[in-house]
Amino acid sequence: MNQLIYDFLRVTESAAIASLPWIGTGNKIEADRAATNSMRFMLNQIEMDGVVVIGEGEIDEAPMLYIGEKVGTGTGKRIDIAVDPIDGTTSTSKGQNDAIAVIAGAPKGTLLHAPDMYMEKIATGPKAAGKIDINASFEQNLYAVANATGKEIHELTVVIQDRERHQDWIETVRSFGAKTYLFEDGDVIPAISTCIESTQIDLFIGIGGAPEGVLAAVGVKSLGGDMQARLLPRTDEERNRCKSMGINDVNKGLLLEQLVATDDCAFVATGITSNMLLNGIKRDQNKFTTHSIMINGNDRNLRCTETVHVINDVRYHTVVV
Ligand code: FBP
Repeated sequence: MNQLIYDFLRVTESAAIASLPWIGTGNKIEADRAATNSMRFMLNQIEMDGVVVIGEGEIDEAPMLYIGEKVGTGTGKRIDIAVDPIDGTTSTSKGQNDAIAVIAGAPKGTLLHAPDMYMEKIATGPKAAGKIDINASFEQNLYAVANATGKEIHELTVVIQDRERHQDWIETVRSFGAKTYLFEDGDVIPAISTCIESTQIDLFIGIGGAPEGVLAAVGVKSLGGDMQARLLPRTDEERNRCKSMGINDVNKGLLLEQLVATDDCAFVATGITSNMLLNGIKRDQNKFTTHSIMINGNDRNLRCTETVHVINDVRYHTVVV
């Protein structure tokens, strides 16, 4: 994945640039369409035999990059792709923070192949890796993370998407005197933030999209953290789709190894609007500036890049910070 990660960078940068005209327009469908088309075009330039194993949308839901779609030139390494052209379509359309273009890849057969549905997720950083358990109560997980990080429970910060369905978790955190960091949209970066000490975030919990779960799991695994999940099918149709993709015990908790079964994986996200780790895309006269993070599971490095894209010029310049 060492070379592919740079190819993926161009993919997320181009999706972010394509979505720029739609920021704040109220039109999340067209924003998604622009990012998806651009991502598909760039993905198909990459020398790989890729397949989207998890993403938003199925084959009949164009314009999404659909699950099962072949991407790349069809030659070269066989690669599983997890993708979300925009995580945070609502934020993009409202001109709010927290939208990214994001992709992850790993050798064939190593990323969870699952339908686009809700998923329960819990993630933590390297200090508490191996200590969380999606089958345990939330309180037990809070104690486990506090013990592992050497903090008192009231010193913990838990990042949670601000949704009615998360209210019990939010109240539990506050009942211990601990802090919540609530966000509106885009749960990939918050899950990964648990692995970045400067954010001061100890734990992520939430129910959100399964594609976003696998994307985040690649980043978390690559940074030595831990993440577990459980698919939450709501209908027989969703249960059957899980089975057709090889998931027989649909309600079983999924360990990190079942989400991402390799360290040879790569994660790249480019900011569309700003979030806790990345600045959003900026346009200035004849150039765009994008900010991205690249996480490589092979060397466990997180690279932050700023790229200046000169309009009407195919050349662009990347600074790795
Ligand atoms: P979209 O960009 O597809 O709208 O997803 C944004 C998001 O916030 C995800 O990050 C999260 O997993 C999911 O939506 C949560 O779903 P919901 O908005 O239905 O609560």
